[in-house]
Amino acid sequence: MTATVDTPANPRRILKALAALRTATGAYPAGHPMIAEKLREVNEAVQLHIRSGEPLRIDTIHGVVHLNGVPFEGEGEVAGLGVDSIHIGTRVRVEELQALAEILWQLKPDTADEPVSATLARRQVQNITVGRLVPLDTRWRAEQWPDRPETTLDPDYEESITLAQQTFEQLSEGRALDLVTVRDLVQLLMCRVASSHAALAQILSVKQYENLTYCHSVNVAVLSLLLGRQLQLEDDALMALVEAALLHDVGKTRIPIDLVKKPGALDKRERRIMEAHTTLGAQILVQVDGLRPLTPLVALEHHRSVTGRGYPDLGTSVPHVFSQIVSVADIYEAVTGARSYQAPTPPERACLLLARLAGDKLNAALVKALVGAITFFPIGSVVRTSLDEVGIVIRTNARDPLHPVMALLDEAMETALGEVDTSDRDVSGAYRRHIRETLLPDTVRSSELMRSILAS
Ligand SMILES: [Fe+2]
Ligand SMILES: [Fe+2]
Repeated sequence: MTATVDTPANPRRILKALAALRTATGAYPAGHPMIAEKLREVNEAVQLHIRSGEPLRIDTIHGVVHLNGVPFEGEGEVAGLGVDSIHIGTRVRVEELQALAEILWQLKPDTADEPVSATLARRQVQNITVGRLVPLDTRWRAEQWPDRPETTLDPDYEESITLAQQTFEQLSEGRALDLVTVRDLVQLLMCRVASSHAALAQILSVKQYENLTYCHSVNVAVLSLLLGRQLQLEDDALMALVEAALLHDVGKTRIPIDLVKKPGALDKRERRIMEAHTTLGAQILVQVDGLRPLTPLVALEHHRSVTGRGYPDLGTSVPHVFSQIVSVADIYEAVTGARSYQAPTPPERACLLLARLAGDKLNAALVKALVGAITFFPIGSVVRTSLDEVGIVIRTNARDPLHPVMALLDEAMETALGEVDTSDRDVSGAYRRHIRETLLPDTVRSSELMRSILAS
């Protein structure tokens, strides 16, 4: 869904007007007619929108402006204001808009100054909030996307999601962690889910639903397992890794639900609360007898980078290798899932994104191992080749991960026409075809066809 420039309120124009007001505020003395003129322009643009009775929410995410959660098309550079989100209530007063411009003019990037929310409150601005984005998290509840997979799931994967959901719901109700369920879940993931092609396809491909914590946790656990197997870890170590990955985000069950549900950017104070899911998780887990010793540590460290940055601040200590594995799996999982403002990233782009983070944020060897384990075009991906054929990846070639074997589909995408090995070359040694792109899984409408291809 994309809003068009015909929408009465043009968020890009509002941002531009606000940037002009901010500059005028800094360049001219108070009371100057130029400030009054720019303020009138901002106020008119804002009033045009809130006249409808709807608050105005503008979020800029990766350069795309969103009006009330919907991407807004438009050409040209987006006016930068030093914040990613501006939410304006329907009762906003013109003096509040002026105060906002003044505060934005004085805003210094990444300083430990008073949070903008506190400055707004001090200036008696009650109808405007601003915020910056927290990247790569799963805290947004769906506005545009369903909350969970809508397609028929692999039965083992379905069971694991149900068990995880129970576990997390019990915890958010303040009950104790159910250790028996956690152990069953670890077994289920290791023995059945990770060896089912259909389940892996649903975990690795793009997901057109918002990942709530329990779904996300199951997926991160399976991804960590694949990564651990690629590193040839022993079974006992793998079990410990899966348990830790499964519970890495349990601290989110202690974050106020309003904050978890809040769309758009968080301000500094809210961000600090969200970031506390790491320490809260470790506190919950350390009190549970019978868990493996690294489980609380991974919950504590999974948002820390290999260079000692990230949160919580634990000095320059390098996270445990299990925490580093979960960080890699966490980011892959977060970006391949849909979020309120962002369509899911296909696996090949997710792999490139991980590669860009390697070295600075993530352990490069672990990124390489995950990409090696899942490949750019994981099993179950629906892909289009350079010959314009569409197929479903059924096997990956270990020596040639960019050229998997696929089940070719007919034009109606209703029948499988047989296998095609995309690593085949012609007499001159050139590839006959390349994979050109990953398509959304629902390109193949029949989940029955998908299952039968992956089961054979
Ligand atoms: Fe987390
Ligand atoms: Fe996570």
